[in-house]
Amino acid sequence: MENLPSFNIIIFIVLFSHVTQFIPWQTLAKDLPCRTTCGSIQVKYPFGSGHGCGSPRFHPYIACSPEGDQLLLTTHTGSYPVTSISYTTSTLIITPPQMSTCTSMQQSPGLGIDWASPFQLGQSTFLLLSCTPPTSSLTIKGSPVCDTSSHLCESIYTCPSVIGLGLPLFPPTNTCCVYSPANFNRKGELDLQKLKCMGYASVVSLQEYPTDPSRWQYGVELQSRGGALDDYYTDNKCNACEISGGLCGYAPPVNSFVCLCSDTINTTIDCKSNSLQNQAELTWNSVSLPSRKLWMEFLGGLVFLWSSLVKKPAYTVLLAVI
Ligand SMILES: *[C@@H]1O[C@H](CO)[C@@H](O)[C@H](O)[C@H]1NC(C)=O
Repeated sequence: MENLPSFNIIIFIVLFSHVTQFIPWQTLAKDLPCRTTCGSIQVKYPFGSGHGCGSPRFHPYIACSPEGDQLLLTTHTGSYPVTSISYTTSTLIITPPQMSTCTSMQQSPGLGIDWASPFQLGQSTFLLLSCTPPTSSLTIKGSPVCDTSSHLCESIYTCPSVIGLGLPLFPPTNTCCVYSPANFNRKGELDLQKLKCMGYASVVSLQEYPTDPSRWQYGVELQSRGGALDDYYTDNKCNACEISGGLCGYAPPVNSFVCLCSDTINTTIDCKSNSLQNQAELTWNSVSLPSRKLWMEFLGGLVFLWSSLVKKPAYTVLLAVI
């Protein structure tokens, strides 16, 4: 048999296709389960686009909408679009659809932030609108809640949209309250019904125009409770993962750190640690590509070895195997 090598190649191909019938190749073609953006928002650790992404502390409070176009903060009172995230200050800004602004004012049931959630109120200023006058008598546990030294009420009441709250144009300012510092109640809620106000506006920044409410930045700033980061150990691991081009996530059973490198590869270190000494650290899905390759090579080698041992052409050995 002078053309033994080519026979062996044919045999290997036959063997390969024989074995691959039993391997679900199609499971390999999946999208990376974690996204780096959601709508126009960049999503990275410690926040995540869904389950298994970012830090487990922020799930299920922060997630990308099923349509993938909006990052949402979900609390016991509703889901609110996240309009910006600052990773340096660990803050995010939400814009509840029922919040009033200078362009649109409407009735709102209020807003709640779960006490168990990793967020607390940030720096934004709440303006309670269309309250039962006089707002100077608004108290919580006997203390007045309105800052009467502020002139923000006069400014926001110049917005023609006040009619949306059943107010006349240029309404009396004793129906408005600068709720500062804003303290949510024991349930973590801004309870407008209890305060006898119809709506609220929340201002993140006056943008250097304290008297021009049409130029203010509206939204509710939330701060990550106790800082955004988990612990020194996980944060360092995530940093190394991100530098190597991976995304940080976590996996059951104990929500331990994983670095997502591609649709088929999660590691416990980072995406550059694919060298042999770290092979044990890799967490492949059930039947992974490298082990299949090794298995194939091993089988091919075995057939070849056997055929040379019994001094018979490899195809007869293969026929015996099959
Ligand atoms: C990698 O981890 C993510 C997050 O836990 C998970 O959704 C995904 O299925 C994992 N992928 C593999 C190939 O194990």
